[in-house]
Amino acid sequence: MPALQGQTVLVIGGSAGMGLATARAARAAGAEAILTARNPERLERAASEIGARSAAFDATDPAALERFFAELPGPVDHIFVTAGRPYYAPLDVLELEPAERSFNDHVWLAFRIAKLARTKLRAGGTLTFIGGTGGRRPGVGLGPISVGTAALPAAVRTLALELAPSRVNLIAPGFVDTDLSAELLGDGLDARRAELAAALPIGRVVGPDDIAALAVHVMTNTALTGATFDIDGGQQLV
Ligand SMILES: NC(=O)c1ccc[n+]([C@@H]2O[C@H](COP(=O)([O-])OP(=O)(O)OC[C@H]3O[C@@H](n4cnc5c(N)ncnc54)[C@H](OP(=O)(O)O)[C@@H]3O)[C@@H](O)[C@H]2O)c1
Repeated sequence: MPALQGQTVLVIGGSAGMGLATARAARAAGAEAILTARNPERLERAASEIGARSAAFDATDPAALERFFAELPGPVDHIFVTAGRPYYAPLDVLELEPAERSFNDHVWLAFRIAKLARTKLRAGGTLTFIGGTGGRRPGVGLGPISVGTAALPAAVRTLALELAPSRVNLIAPGFVDTDLSAELLGDGLDARRAELAAALPIGRVVGPDDIAALAVHVMTNTALTGATFDIDGGQQLV
């Protein structure tokens, strides 16, 4: 029987990148999928491509998020959260408002979703968040992402206890070849891809399907909770 047969996977941030790849992999493993994102046209395209239900709203809008969970028709088995984006800025041009927003959109959003999940996540289900490895090494301009990078593993360890027997985990990628990376790197994307493909021990860049394979594993392996899973092709090593 497919690993997720009869289960429902909710992807908050599911119309592109790792979220869409994970929803596609979950569908292939037999799950029903519900996708959310802000842009309704792109969301609709993604949902119809993989045969998922969808709801367009901004996950960082607390009222919209609460309304969405209240209106969810039934319990879900797995929630995968990818919403949020990084903010890079050296101290001399750092603005606190976007820095706080980026932290909140990753860290406090995790707690907000965990609180709401108590009512809609089936016991024994999973809640998985995305962190990163890029902010572990200190660097000029990395201050805002370094604090979120440090906070999320601590958050999932606590949430894993609080939501037990449901399981809570964190996936920590390095560079992933997604729309977000294309937007952040602009004209530098191809050079960065080539640089990483040459430098990484795996000899290629990490793509959204790599994250999806790990995300489905985390959903299905019932021994995993409170853990952070690095997936960066060895980027931290070089
Ligand atoms: N790409 C990387 O190299 C990398 C590395 C480490 C960590 N990360 C983190 O991984 C996560 C996913 O990145 P990705 O590269 O897959 O991004 P992506 O390709 O831009 O996809 C992000 C998805 O989330 C949705 N989304 C974003 N903000 C949202 C919000 N506030 N409310 C609802 N939906 C939202 C987007 O749709 P809409 O824009 O329509 O809302 C889209 O469907 C991000 O949190 C990012 O910081 C990325």
